[in-house]
Amino acid sequence: MNLNERQRKVLKRTFLDYQQTAEFFKNPLIVQRAEGLYYWDVEGKRYFDGIGGIFVATLGHKHPRLMAAMQRQMETLSFVPSMHGIADITLDFIEKLGEVTPGNLNYIKPYSGGSESIESAMKFTRQYFKQSGQPGKYKFISRYFGYHGATFGAMSASGTGKRKTAFEPQMGGFLKVFPPTYYRDRFSSWEECNRFCAQMFEDVIINEDPDTVAGIIIEPIGNTGGIITPTVAYFQLIREICDRYNIILIYDEIITGFARTGAMFAAQTFGVMPDIICGGKGLSSGAIPLGAMIAREGMGEAFYGPAADDVNFAHGHTFAGNPLACAVGIAVIDEIVEKQLDHKARELGDYLAARLEGLKQYGVVREVRGRGVLRGVELVKDTHTMQPYPELGSALKRTALKNGLVIRVDPTWFAVAPALIAEKSDIDELCDLIEKSLIDALERVKP
Ligand SMILES: Cc1ncc(COP(=O)(O)O)c(C=O)c1O
Repeated sequence: MNLNERQRKVLKRTFLDYQQTAEFFKNPLIVQRAEGLYYWDVEGKRYFDGIGGIFVATLGHKHPRLMAAMQRQMETLSFVPSMHGIADITLDFIEKLGEVTPGNLNYIKPYSGGSESIESAMKFTRQYFKQSGQPGKYKFISRYFGYHGATFGAMSASGTGKRKTAFEPQMGGFLKVFPPTYYRDRFSSWEECNRFCAQMFEDVIINEDPDTVAGIIIEPIGNTGGIITPTVAYFQLIREICDRYNIILIYDEIITGFARTGAMFAAQTFGVMPDIICGGKGLSSGAIPLGAMIAREGMGEAFYGPAADDVNFAHGHTFAGNPLACAVGIAVIDEIVEKQLDHKARELGDYLAARLEGLKQYGVVREVRGRGVLRGVELVKDTHTMQPYPELGSALKRTALKNGLVIRVDPTWFAVAPALIAEKSDIDELCDLIEKSLIDALERVKP
């Protein structure tokens, strides 16, 4: 699309997420409306939203059930500050979410997004140890290539250098290990590589002194880095390590939560439970900002006691637990459960993966990764040297938009995560658009 003078002027006065405005000018997208699986830009052009907003629109855009839930709630109550009271609907939301979380993970604090949920999980963990007789435990170990949010704590836990250097120094007490994809070529099997990478957490813990380590934070499937999908044994080993040293395991399920990987949470997909789950994005399907920190009962109970002890979680946000957002969250969960969208994500995901595997015929795809309706495709110059192909990714970003397709391109890989309302015919439409855009991109980069 073309930008007019006014749009250029106003765009210069704002700041886009993690991208240069001048770069955006070359390939702009100004969206006017969205419905279901599609966006329309201000010139009326239609785009297939192949990434559900940004792993957000679980139920597609403008889902009628969510709009109705919000409308109903607007007519009764739209705000109560958590300092003075709590909305009835917020209690309903906590109860509802607690019904679909795994095991005894049912102590819940709602928030307005992913970063807030992560920030809260880290503060909760530190305070938990302070009031449970191990005040020296404060460090967090996470992974390079991971992304946990933009606020200072969440950024310090994130492992994407480019997004951090402008804000150095980072907070102290944050350590990193590499995810399995980083070492895969040094091992004869993916399983062996995963075992090595899980073991690295223990090596760091021992050398840091276990009495100083509070938590491990990982995305079960890592988006930044290219939909990094470890083995089940990787999670099992990390769980054992956490148990051995009394370390809190935090899953950042801001992308993987709410049926995307074929179960309500990726914790269930991989069959290994954490102590805390952080949710966001898909929990509201993008209708309104919403996130949640979900802790296991034993941790939650440590924050409850006689009034004289004044034990409380010293943390809060004005808009967290907002009644409108909670009404939407309830409607999203009801829709997922009633329509069994977790099962659907598995079936649809297998179909999507098979179609993406078909792209290997072009000789520039190393691997198709992911689970359910969360898939990533790694682009390489050829499948012998496996050299990354960022030029192709950059071209793909442009050809996709030109062809009316929105996906996430990084540029050495791209991710696909359509809404769970999609049917097989929609997946075909999406994959046809991807294939066409890849062919067009190859034409642009091939000498
Ligand atoms: C895995 C993950 N964690 C945390 C966040 C931060 O969430 P938010 O942008 O809602 O603060 C994101 C956002 O992209 C994310 O992908």
